[in-house]
Amino acid sequence: MAATRVLIVDDDLNIQRVLVFTLKQEGFEVLVASDGATGVAMATEQKPDLILMDVVMPGIDGYAAVQQIRAAEAAGQHVPIIMLAAESDVGQRVRGLRAGADDDIVKPFHPLELMARIRALVSRATSGGARAGAAPALGRVCAFYGAKGGAGTTTLALNAAIALTRELKRRTLLMDANLQFGDLRVFLDLGLDTSSLVEAMDETDLDADLLKRLTVAHKSGVDLLLAPPNPAAGDIVVERHRTDPEQLGRVLATARQQYDYTLVDMATSIDDFDLALFDAADVIFVVMTADLSCIKNVRLVLETMQHLGYARSKVQLILNRSTAATGINVKAIEQALERPIDHQVINEYRAAISALNSGEPFMLTRPDGTLGRSVAAFAKAIDAVAVAEATAELEAQSQRR
Ligand SMILES: Nc1ncnc2c1ncn2[C@@H]1O[C@H](COP(=O)(O)OP(=O)(O)O)[C@@H](O)[C@H]1O
Ligand SMILES: [Mg+2]
Repeated sequence: MAATRVLIVDDDLNIQRVLVFTLKQEGFEVLVASDGATGVAMATEQKPDLILMDVVMPGIDGYAAVQQIRAAEAAGQHVPIIMLAAESDVGQRVRGLRAGADDDIVKPFHPLELMARIRALVSRATSGGARAGAAPALGRVCAFYGAKGGAGTTTLALNAAIALTRELKRRTLLMDANLQFGDLRVFLDLGLDTSSLVEAMDETDLDADLLKRLTVAHKSGVDLLLAPPNPAAGDIVVERHRTDPEQLGRVLATARQQYDYTLVDMATSIDDFDLALFDAADVIFVVMTADLSCIKNVRLVLETMQHLGYARSKVQLILNRSTAATGINVKAIEQALERPIDHQVINEYRAAISALNSGEPFMLTRPDGTLGRSVAAFAKAIDAVAVAEATAELEAQSQRR
């Protein structure tokens, strides 16, 4: 198969150099233009498979260049274009997309992130939307575990999933592992007549396509693997896990292959099924609020995790509703727990509850509200860690070679 040809249009020599180097290393063939006019000419003559377009350039800028490239395209032709934006300005982003770009990435970006975007676009272009040949997924499994009911576990898992999908362009699966009382159907106003974890736990020859079919595509772009529709169906999953403890691992392994993130919304119990989820997870987010019973529970949970032999970094504390006036501040909690709080999400009761009552997550309707920004910051933080670890893993692999 011929190498994928990428055209870089950027006047900054340093950026050119970095991009040429990374792209070549990834096996791409690279063409370079240092200004908009040359970029348009090369795009029409050379017909690259994808274009990386800087926004600010002397002469015609990136927007105008994209418009000219689109205008010159024949019907049915569409070269994927990623804008290299100078800042994460919403207006700039919209302008780029309006001009005809397919995606954008803000400088400075991580090379791995850019590669993921490139691969996603190229595969979409060549397969007409199917996911065949897509970039290897990050494959992170993140468990969300509430120190007590009502701490905001479902709220955070759901809205973080939406932030990862929409703001960070990650393929994300949200799995409702609350076997008895799964809430996602309520949060998202979905009926009971959909497939769920029950079917997934029943298929020993589960593959990516089948898993995909068992999920429900939410309009946010997040795929949902729903909880059993009722407690009796939940018991089937428990029984299934007892007779075949490997199946849950198969489901998660299949999810890892095609999703960057699998976020698991867990019940507050600690039974065999929950323990298996803890084991399989790359990271466990323990969701708490600033009250004494939560702090007491978190201590127990942390002790349990320590007994299980988990690394300190595998278990992360999220203080939800951190700005609520409870009389217990972050410092006091950290002292009581003898460890730092890793993430905080602010308190905004009205946004949270109206989202719940309307079936529309706030990350979808008001991503720029204070609560939306707070959860988005959390999503960004976990993504940075995941990308750093994936990069370290890649480097370790290439050193072994
Ligand atoms: N950051 C927040 N600020 C204000 N209210 C919140 C916040 N997070 C969650 N809530 C509210 O707390 C309640 C419990 O949330 P939920 O996600 O169902 O908790 P859990 O899944 O831990 O039982 C809901 O009414 C939700 O709207
Ligand atoms: Mg819940």
